Amino acid sequence: MTPRMHLLAACAAATFALMAGPAAAQNTGKLKVGLMLPYTGTFAALGNAIENGFRLYVAEQGGKLAGREIEFFKVDDESDPSKATDNVNKLIKRDQVDVLVGTVHSGVAMAMARAAKETGTLLIVPNAGADAVTGAMCAPNIFRSSFSNWQPGYAMGEVVAKKGHKNVVTITWKYAAGDESVKGFKEAFEKGGGKVTKELSLPFPNVEFQALLTEIAAAKPDAVYTFFAGGGAVKFVKDYAAAGLKGKIPLYAAGFLTDGTLEAQGADAADLLTTLHYADSLGTPRDNAFRLNYAKTYKLQPDVYAVQGYDAAQMLGVGLGAVKGDVSKKDAFADALRKAKIDSPRGPFTLSKAHNPVQDIYLRQVSGKENKSIGVATKSLADPGRGCRM
Ligand code: PHB
Repeated sequence: MTPRMHLLAACAAATFALMAGPAAAQNTGKLKVGLMLPYTGTFAALGNAIENGFRLYVAEQGGKLAGREIEFFKVDDESDPSKATDNVNKLIKRDQVDVLVGTVHSGVAMAMARAAKETGTLLIVPNAGADAVTGAMCAPNIFRSSFSNWQPGYAMGEVVAKKGHKNVVTITWKYAAGDESVKGFKEAFEKGGGKVTKELSLPFPNVEFQALLTEIAAAKPDAVYTFFAGGGAVKFVKDYAAAGLKGKIPLYAAGFLTDGTLEAQGADAADLLTTLHYADSLGTPRDNAFRLNYAKTYKLQPDVYAVQGYDAAQMLGVGLGAVKGDVSKKDAFADALRKAKIDSPRGPFTLSKAHNPVQDIYLRQVSGKENKSIGVATKSLADPGRGCRM
């Protein structure tokens, strides 16, 4: 070989190595998972529970999914939509994660969905209910392990109508989750013959409820429907009681109002009725095993957020298993999830065409430190997926 031929051969080998490098790295080596969650602010406890649940499932699989070790990259999104695009780009562009997992806040999740859609990065949403994520913004690479805001709201609308209440005032934070939860409630409640007579709100994450509670006391509705969560939910339940409304005007809510919050709410939460896709007393072997392992690992009781994090990891495992760890095979990854039955602690669920859980919504009542299931409010409730073209 002449020196020139040597050089050409070396160049060809180098080029081949470059081409083979990224392709080979797609199904071997560590899988980079980007956790974008709130670790500060009113939803901090929710973000931590999601991460705990996710890590628990991975640990149960021996630290690997589809044979790949998991490497975590974390960003605190602060539940701040104005920082969301920058934050998600830290994970996609800087850390070059294979999969995004996040988040809690609907406004932040919509920015994540936009970025996932643009870049084709896999996204699993472990809480945020923004209807658009599995509606107008749906995409083959976007999945949700939690719920749509419409789901618990709609189920509670049916419950409250059946109880014979006619005139309801709603109160929530003014952003996608609050608006859509109320919209779902109103759709079912008004179909059942009731009327939402006043829709009260305050900006997220404000907790100055006093003036609005005074307005409710003056309006004297048959009942109140609300969506609050995290630290805000603790304060709302305490303020509702302190305003003298508990026991006078029945309060109904999406189950987030009393999930992960009962310790702090104490007696002010007693007997509250809520609707959600999880409850503390399901008593199934699957849920018992999950709760036991969670409590042993973290010295904490799990809540709905822990379940959603756990199931996000299960869903990732199902998709990865079908493509033998090769995340570049997006169609096969999605096909496997569309056909899957996820063995969740909440009970098994499937995914709708738009990739949102089709699931039972429980009617729960607060009893001591537990959200006890008192029955299924709506069986196999599927979000309508309005606006999804896929
Ligand atoms: C949301 O913003 O979608 C959201 C936040 C907290 C919850 C539920 C939904 O508990």
